[in-house]
Formats: sequence, C-alpha cells, structure tokens
Amino acid sequence: MLKRGLNVTGFIRPSQVRCFRSDILGTDIFRVHHKDELTAIRAEREYCNGGMQETVKVAVTGGAGAIGYSLLFRIASGEMFGKKQRVQIRCVELPFAMDSLRGVAMELQDCAFPLLDGVFCTDDAERGFEDIDYALLVGSKPRGPGMERADLLKQNGAIFTGIGGALNKWARKSCKVVVVGNPANTNCLIAANNAPDIPIENFTAMTRLDHDRGLGQLAKKAGVNIKQVKDFCIWGNHSPTMYPDISRCTIGGQSAMQALSTANPDEDMQQWYTGEFMPCVQQRGAAIINARGASSAASAGNACLMHARDWELGTGGAVTSMAIPSNGEYDVTPGLFFSYPVTTQEGGAYKIVQNLNIDDFSRQKIKLTENELLAERDAVAEYLPH
Ligand code: NAD
Ligand code: LMR
Repeated sequence: MLKRGLNVTGFIRPSQVRCFRSDILGTDIFRVHHKDELTAIRAEREYCNGGMQETVKVAVTGGAGAIGYSLLFRIASGEMFGKKQRVQIRCVELPFAMDSLRGVAMELQDCAFPLLDGVFCTDDAERGFEDIDYALLVGSKPRGPGMERADLLKQNGAIFTGIGGALNKWARKSCKVVVVGNPANTNCLIAANNAPDIPIENFTAMTRLDHDRGLGQLAKKAGVNIKQVKDFCIWGNHSPTMYPDISRCTIGGQSAMQALSTANPDEDMQQWYTGEFMPCVQQRGAAIINARGASSAASAGNACLMHARDWELGTGGAVTSMAIPSNGEYDVTPGLFFSYPVTTQEGGAYKIVQNLNIDDFSRQKIKLTENELLAERDAVAEYLPH
C-alpha cells in the first residue's frame, strides 16, 4: 500500500517545483534537431501576438502502437495544450519497434506542425523522460479477445515498475503522469510507488474513455447533444466493476431519469440504466475488441488527450472522471488509484466533488469496485516497494 498521500480538502495542486537536470540546450535533442525557422515564425504569426510560452516536454511510451499513432499527431497539432503552446515529444518504445517509431517521427515532421519543437525517439526510458513535464504512459500489452484487463496485471506490472523508477530519476518533479496502459489504475499505483520523489497527486490513471462512453450512450438515448449531459461520472476501476453513476446527472437541465423517460415513454428507464447502460459502459472495451479484433485506439487516444487537456487547462466547473490517489474520500481505502468525479482548474489543480449524498445502491457499487482494486493491489504487492 502507498505510504505517501496528502490530507487535502481543497484543490490538489501538483507540485510546481521545477527541477531541471539539464537545460534543454545541452541535451541530444538540440544537437540533432535543427529548428526550422520558418515553422517557428509561422507559429508566432498564427497563434501568438507575442512570445510563446516555454516548450512543454511530453513523453509518450508506446508511441509506435495503435493509440500512440492517433495521439501523437494531435498533441503536435496543439489539441492538448492549446494553440499557443509549443510541445516537444519524447517517444519511448521497445527496441524492436524503433524502426516503426522512426517512421512515425518522419510523419510528424512531414506535417510541419508549427507548435512541434522536436521529436526524440528512444528505447531508453531514462533518456526519454529527461526533464519532461508530462508522461503519457501508453506502452504496454493490450488484451485480446476473451481476456480481462486484470489478466495483464503481471506482464504490464513489471513494465510500470521500471517506468516509475525512470520517471523518478529523470522527469521533473512537477511532471504530471497519465497512465493509459491496462490495468490502468493498478499500473498507476505501481508507477507512483516506484517514483517516491514525485508527488503522488501528480499520478493519474485514465477513466476518461469510460466517462465519454457514458456521455455518448446517454445523449443518444435521450436524443440530445452531448453538451446537454452534465454531472455524470465513473467511480473506481477501469474494469467491468466500474460504476457509471447517473444519480446526479442532468440532461438538458432535468434529472437524467426524467429526461430519459420523457424521450422514451414506453420504456422502463431504471431497467435500461441497470440492465443495458451500465453493462454497456462497463463492457464497451470488450465489445470493441470483439468488433474490430483490436482494442480501442482512436477513442482511447482522444480520451488521453482530453484527460491531459482538462487537467492542464481546467474544466471550467464541469465534472469529469479521473482515477487519482484516494485520501479516503467517500470511504475508499487511501492509496488506491480510484476514479472519482472531479473538477479541474487551469494550471493543473484537481478537486474531488465534495459532499455528495451516496445512496445505498451507489455505496454498494463503489464498494465492489474498491474491493477489486484492493485485490489487484495485493496481487502486485511485489512491485510496491514504498
Ligand atoms: P499496441 O500493442 O498497439 O501498442 C503498444 C505499444 O507499446 C507497442 O508499440 C509496444 O512496443 C509498446 N510497448 C510495450 N511495452 C513497452 C515499454 N515497456 N516501454 C515502451 N513501449 C512499450 O497497444 P495499444 O492499442 O496502443 O494499447 C496500449 C495499452 O493501452 C494497452 O495496455 C491497452 O489495453 C491500453 N488501453 C487503455 C485504455 C483505457 O481506457 N485506459 C483504452 C484503450 C487501451
Ligand atoms: C478499453 O476500455 O477499450 C481498453 O481498456 C481496452 C480494453 O482492453 O478494454
């Protein structure tokens, strides 16, 4: 179990301390990367009426994989941190995938993205993580048909031990981490536990895809635009035990149940919620694997992008879902990476929605997914040195 953690009631603000191990000018990237002046001038003209902000360095593991291929181009185009923010991408891959990764890097170069301040490709996580501001931890094995995400615990757990150690050694202490590789919550626990010098609140696991899946299903059933659906959330694990909660959700200003019933007068919406909606969101990953023969990639890349964007730029009061370290909120065991309803503020602060009234149904569902995370934690105890 994690021995670190903060007892914070307000916004949790990841450490802003910047620890430069080397200035970027001294690293390989600037030795091999000749800046395209035209690109820089275009960026200034198109996106800024003044100077640019300091380049944000984003490491992506598994850059040659399916998610990486959809994610990298969108980071480089400015969709993650906005159109005024230069980014440098540092891709970490396994040795066998380096040729493929180099091809991806060539394609990134061929897009002439004005905001892209270099792509660095390596099979050495330590070099990949040098001075990074963000780590998007995608690289790991996906499950195949018939597998549960927890079946990946041992294989991917070992990966996240090494990744945590490398982050601890080389990333900035202010580095923010988003774990995508499955089983995401427990991999995040492992990475955080192996990076004791980076504040634990800087580690998060992605349940944004589940959140967005839920929004999509609700909007479709109610016959409204996604924007009308508010205060939906995912609790717990990115697994079939997750709890997609509509108890406070509103659709077009009405309670979700009311809006769904109005749109579907001949159906029992409570039955639809527990018998169709919840299993659909919980099992959507498997349904996609069965349909396309491979796990979700573009939607997962999109969710990762939105998770990081909202973390950095803020949700403007809107509720989203992120798996973050529990400090015991809503009676969840401290130290688990648990998906909560959160709001975020520009600059990287997030806050769990407070004082929610949890009914018996919700309490039971939250307990179920917590128990699964406890069992996963115990199964990887060997990877949790701190
Ligand atoms: P993929 O097999 O297409 O790509 C994974 C890439 O990671 C490969 O290129 C591989 O070489 C690389 N890799 C493996 N181990 C690595 C390591 N130690 N360091 C660096 N790179 C490494 O898989 P994918 O479809 O991109 O999925 C990646 C992961 O994301 C899987 O674990 C999948 O289950 C997970 N996923 C999570 C969510 C979510 O909602 N949290 C959604 C979709 C997929
Ligand atoms: C998803 O939810 O699509 C991913 O976690 C992939 C999977 O294994 O389900």
